[in-house]
Amino acid sequence: MATSGDLPFDVESVRRDFPILDQRLLNDKPLVYLDTAATSQKPRIVIDKLVECCEKYNSNVHRGIHQLGDRMTTELENAREIVQRFIGAKDVDEIVFTSGTTMSLNIVAHGWGRKFLKPGDEILVNPMEHHANLVPWQLAAKATGAVLKYIPLTNDGRLDLSHLDELLTTRTKLVAVTAMSNVLGTINPIGELAQRAHAVGALICVDGAQSVPHSSTNVRALNIDFLAFSGHKLYGPTGIGVLWARKELLESMDPFLAGGHMIREVFEQSSTWADPPAKFEAGTCPFIEAVALGAAIEYVTKLGIDRIAKYEHQLSVYAHQRLNEVPGVRILGPSVEHKGAILSLVIDGLHAHDLSDLLDREGVAIRAGHHCTMPLHELLGLTSSARASLAFYNTRSEIDKLIEAIDSAKKVFQRRSGSRPGATR
Ligand code: ALA
Repeated sequence: MATSGDLPFDVESVRRDFPILDQRLLNDKPLVYLDTAATSQKPRIVIDKLVECCEKYNSNVHRGIHQLGDRMTTELENAREIVQRFIGAKDVDEIVFTSGTTMSLNIVAHGWGRKFLKPGDEILVNPMEHHANLVPWQLAAKATGAVLKYIPLTNDGRLDLSHLDELLTTRTKLVAVTAMSNVLGTINPIGELAQRAHAVGALICVDGAQSVPHSSTNVRALNIDFLAFSGHKLYGPTGIGVLWARKELLESMDPFLAGGHMIREVFEQSSTWADPPAKFEAGTCPFIEAVALGAAIEYVTKLGIDRIAKYEHQLSVYAHQRLNEVPGVRILGPSVEHKGAILSLVIDGLHAHDLSDLLDREGVAIRAGHHCTMPLHELLGLTSSARASLAFYNTRSEIDKLIEAIDSAKKVFQRRSGSRPGATR
C-alpha cells in the first residue's frame, strides 16, 4: 500500500473509499466529519455488501432449506468467523450478534447479573462509563440487592487505581469498565484490571465500543470475560453489534430475549435453550448487517488495525497541539499518550451546543452534549462538552479547518454577545 511521508498509509486514497466524505454542505463548505465516536462512516465495500445481500441472496438464516437460505446462512457464519479472528476469540460460538453495544451489555447485566448477583455483592464501576455500561448494572443491582462501587478518577481523567485494593475485594463480583472513554478518550489498563479482578474472584465486562474500531483487541491476551462493541462505530452498518464472552459463561447465563431460534425444545409450560450463540439471538438476527460488518472488519484488517492506530495517534497529537494553542480552549481528559483520538472541548464562555452549531455552518461536524455520561459531566462540573472524534479518514487539513472554525465561532459569539470568549485564559 502506498504511503506518503511518515504516514502509515495513503489517506487520500483511503478517503476515496468513503463516498460520503466527498461532498459539500451548505454554503459550499466541504464536509469535515469529526464525529466518528458517535458513528463512523462506511466504506464503499460495506455499502456494496449490503446491496449484494439484498439483490442476490437475501433470505432468512438458519431456517429455509433452499439455495438462498443456504447462501445467506453461510455468509452470516462467515461473518461470525471474521469477528472471531478480529478479536482473537477461542471459539466461533462465543460470538453473539446483537443489535449493538447497549444490547450486548444488557444481555450480560440481565443474563449473568440477575442470575448470579446476590444481596451485598459489589459491582465495580467508575464515573467515566457510558450510560450503557452503567444503567444496566444499576438495574441488575436493584433487582438483586447488589451495590455499585466507584473507582475514582484522577484529576486528569484516568482511573485512580491507588485505592483499588480497598475497592476490589471478595465482595466484588464484577468490574464493568470501558476500554476507552467516549468523552475523555482515556485508554484504560484492561489487562491489569482483568488480572486484579480475577485475583479476588470477580469477572470483568469491557465496553469496547470506542476501542475496538481504533486499536487491536485480543480477548484472550487481555484475559477478559465479556466484551461488547457496535458495528456502526466499526465502519459497518447500524443495528448490529457483538457480545463476546467465554463459552462457559454464555452457557451458564440466562437468555435475555426469548422467542424463536433461541430454544432447544418448547413445551406447554416451559422451554429449554439452544446452545450459544443461538441462545442469545432470539428472533431474526440482523443478518445482512452482520455480513456487512464482516466486510467492514475485512476492510479494517486489510488496512491494518495497527497502522490505523498509529495514524490516528499521529493525527490526535497534531490536533492536541493545535487546539492547545487556541486561547480559552480546554481539552478534557489525560495527555495525548494516554488517550485515543477523542478531543472533548470546553471553551470559555461558549456553550457546547452554540459551538457545534457555529462549526456546522463551516461544514465541521462534531457532537455536543453530555455524550451519555452524565455522572462524568457532573464530576467535571459541566452539563455538556463539545467533542471532536477522529478516524483514519481524517486529515491534518481537516484539523486546521476545525481550528479556523473555532476561531470564527469565537468571533461570531463575541460580536453577538459583546463578550470575549477565551479572553481570560
Ligand atoms: N455512544 C455514542 C457516543 O459517544 C453515541 O457518541
